[in-house]
Amino acid sequence: MIDIHSTNQLTGHFIELEEQYGAHNYHPLPVVLSRGQGVYVWDVDGKRYYDFLSGYSALNQGHCHPRLVNALIDQAQKLTLTSRAFYNDRLGIFEQFLAQLFGYDRVLPMNTGVEAVETALKLARKWAYEVKGIPDGQAKIVVCENNFHGRTLNVISFSTDPQARNGFGPYMPGYVIIPYNDIDALERALEDPYVAAFLVEPIQGEAGVIVPDSGYLSQAKSCCEAHRVLFIADEIQTGLGRTGKMLCCDYEQVKPDILILGKALSGGMLPISAVLANDEVMLTIRPGEHGSTFGGNPLASRIAVEAVQIILDEALPERAAQLGSYFRERLQALSSPLIRVIRGKGLLNAVVVDHPHPEAAWQLCLLMRDRGLLAKPTHGDRIRFAPPLIITREQIDECLAIIEDSLHALEHISLD
Ligand SMILES: Cc1ncc(COP(=O)(O)O)c(C=O)c1O
Repeated sequence: MIDIHSTNQLTGHFIELEEQYGAHNYHPLPVVLSRGQGVYVWDVDGKRYYDFLSGYSALNQGHCHPRLVNALIDQAQKLTLTSRAFYNDRLGIFEQFLAQLFGYDRVLPMNTGVEAVETALKLARKWAYEVKGIPDGQAKIVVCENNFHGRTLNVISFSTDPQARNGFGPYMPGYVIIPYNDIDALERALEDPYVAAFLVEPIQGEAGVIVPDSGYLSQAKSCCEAHRVLFIADEIQTGLGRTGKMLCCDYEQVKPDILILGKALSGGMLPISAVLANDEVMLTIRPGEHGSTFGGNPLASRIAVEAVQIILDEALPERAAQLGSYFRERLQALSSPLIRVIRGKGLLNAVVVDHPHPEAAWQLCLLMRDRGLLAKPTHGDRIRFAPPLIITREQIDECLAIIEDSLHALEHISLD
């Protein structure tokens, strides 16, 4: 369906380079970006687009936020990496800031999201053996169908997505998979005394922005408490303002036993993730038992504080809540026959495209690209609409016009 030769020369050149020399583990939309500022990105020919993916929600603060650029440059000129062999004058400030903001005793810094997930799982197992008293090697973790927690061998071991999992065995044992948004299934799973933790996304982002019933998270948390099971929230995509609250769990006043953050923790500057927990859990891991060369480096620590402070100073969660409701209402009002479902919370939204052709969602993304808006399908027929949270109402209106026009264009295109 994509003909890269129909794109212009410069675009084609960069696409060819990636195609020829890069691994083929992604299928990008054919657009080559070279600049970003705020809600906008520009391609190599200077054409401007709204970014409606926001680096899978890593860019809540917008592209190249001036405060983050300044923090990056300033810190890069002083000290970037010490390793954890020594203390540094930024890490403690970052840990204190995050721990106090979210109300936890301690923070364990990592880099990518999946590393933080792995860290949380290691903590849960260690806690299970040292505190809960589960016999060594027997701990189980309950997870949900259609989860997405990253790409390591351990994490894909409990994926139910054949594309993510097949062909990478043997798989790590110790996981129990239950349906998402099903409290009865969770109750049954937690009857097993060897369960250490329940790992859950408050909204399943990669699955296509699946929002569970109201009350699911709080009931799940109570259920975990009743069975002395740790409630682990993966807020890597939903956290830090994206869904209209600082954490998506805040909607139900749920405080996870282990909180996992990533993505917008750096505002897109570099990979920064973190795990938060209280002493009973966090102190089960001792020196030498876990770590990372780059985790907690001074550059990342400085940027993370600035990135989170921007979210607070610019009241981005409140903005996401208001503009998200507005966006969904206006999208609904389009009454497009090509949209089967609109769902989301705050500015984490998705539509399910209603069209018999399997490439329709991809084609719609190409039509939106041509009109100046970038979004990407997930799982074939779903398209996520997740702009940076700094977007204005006027910009949302402009984007809705682009989406409407692209939907009309799709109605009149023959896809065969
Ligand atoms: C909920 C969730 N967990 C974990 C990850 C993995 O993060 P990373 O790609 O930084 O490893 C993602 C990434 O999309 C995610 O959405």
